[in-house]
Amino acid sequence: MQLRVVSDQPWDVAADVLAVPFAGEPNFETALGEIDRRSGGELHAVTEFGELKAERYAAAIMAPGQLRAGRLMAIAAGPADELTRQVVIRVASTIERRLGGRKVKSLAVWLGDLADHIEGGAETVAEMVARGVVEGSFEPAGIYRDDVKSAPPALDELILVAPGASPAALTRAAERGVVMGEGANLARGLANRAANDISPDVLAEEARTIAERHGLSIDVLGPEQAAELGMGMFLAVGRGSDNPPRMIVLRSGAARAKDALGRHLAIVGKGVCFDSGGISIKPAERMEEMKMDKTGACTVIAAIATVARLAPGTPLLAVAPAVENMPGPHSTRPGDIVKAMNGKTVDVINTDAEGRLILGDAMCYAEKLGATHIVDVATLTGAVARAFGDQMTGTFGTPQAWYDQVAAAGERAGERYWQMPFVEEYRPDLDSWYAEVTNTGSVEGGLIKSALFLREFVTVPWAHLDIAGTAYFRKKTPYAPAGATGVSHATLVELALAGAKKA
Ligand code: BES
Ligand code: MN
Ligand code: ZN
Repeated sequence: MQLRVVSDQPWDVAADVLAVPFAGEPNFETALGEIDRRSGGELHAVTEFGELKAERYAAAIMAPGQLRAGRLMAIAAGPADELTRQVVIRVASTIERRLGGRKVKSLAVWLGDLADHIEGGAETVAEMVARGVVEGSFEPAGIYRDDVKSAPPALDELILVAPGASPAALTRAAERGVVMGEGANLARGLANRAANDISPDVLAEEARTIAERHGLSIDVLGPEQAAELGMGMFLAVGRGSDNPPRMIVLRSGAARAKDALGRHLAIVGKGVCFDSGGISIKPAERMEEMKMDKTGACTVIAAIATVARLAPGTPLLAVAPAVENMPGPHSTRPGDIVKAMNGKTVDVINTDAEGRLILGDAMCYAEKLGATHIVDVATLTGAVARAFGDQMTGTFGTPQAWYDQVAAAGERAGERYWQMPFVEEYRPDLDSWYAEVTNTGSVEGGLIKSALFLREFVTVPWAHLDIAGTAYFRKKTPYAPAGATGVSHATLVELALAGAKKA
């Protein structure tokens, strides 16, 4: 897809479709009025008729009248004072998805009205719109077949229309947005794939291909190496499956190198290619969704590739423990006692609390490889999904100053996070009869207890993003299909890029 930023007026832009997003009610005092006049009053008429509402993501496609574009699309961004980066991204995704099944090769998007209502103006809007159009083009139905009728169009050209702006700065911003969007789609494409298609080994091979493409170092540990390193928790989860576990390690920059902020950042992602629960087996209902339990791993693999594209050589480590959690004669049993890489003995009282086991060893390994700061991303608990649903990711972090930096990266990325507390009084609930810690306590406060467990295995500044609710949508929305959302990819990239050498 070619990207072009033009400072022309929207009515002078030739394209198959001209999309005009607006905040609030359509205000015909602005350039929207001139677009309306050139369309022969169509925009006004459609609004009057009730075809176009001010409701967020409502869109109408009209004849262009005297506009140079082939079609005119108006799209509502919702209340002007509630316009966020996320809303701009989603408006753009909605535009692209609204064109599903249509013959569209060139799409022009007028940035004017959104730019007036957001901090950062046209530059921010250019980045978020480019990212949103790319994310909107993601079609999971195409992963296993190629006769998808209503797929969003493969654009030859995206034209960003920003009258009076400096095309050079906006082009840079939009190019960044495209790369961000492609990275999110890479994560989504992997996360959506079925468990009979992506085993831990296949995920490792996908990571290898990605590493080679982007000049990243890669190391993949099998069970023997994991055993030598003492990764007893990681191995305990992997042993129930015929598909052996893989600890996938990707690196940008030199080993142990510090970034411009003095950090050696590690991003760690849960890679459970299928979570049956193991011997503590899950009920049948929705168990098929547990192929998405590798989303954290897919996210960190894609994120380090995106960082390599945007700022090659930026020091960054990605660690993705990949396993299948299966019942079988070799499986870990409830009550088995294993030794973690950091030497702690762990009582596995529930084999379905497997994510925290593999993450504990992965974070310990990240520290061994020199990590000074860690963020993990994981579909860890049903509790986070019950509390926050699919729009908000529940998080933990310590110390607060480090968490605040992660949260700020989330703001720049246009993603929503809500921090939960460590409640020290709950820690005794993880006491074991025999070992130093059990992997689950009672269900009350289960979300907080999951983070208290993880904390046992980290000694450096750390944040935990529980994406069990946000990793995938069960139903499509105007801006996204059902399936993997790409959540947290942009946040991790923003966090890592904060430590990139300024060009
Ligand atoms: N992978 C699940 C969490 C999950 C649930 C992800 C729903 C996505 C959607 C995780 O491994 C799990 O099974 N968690 C248990 C923990 C419990 C046994 C303490 C849960 O949340 O029930
Ligand atoms: Mn589980
Ligand atoms: Zn799981």
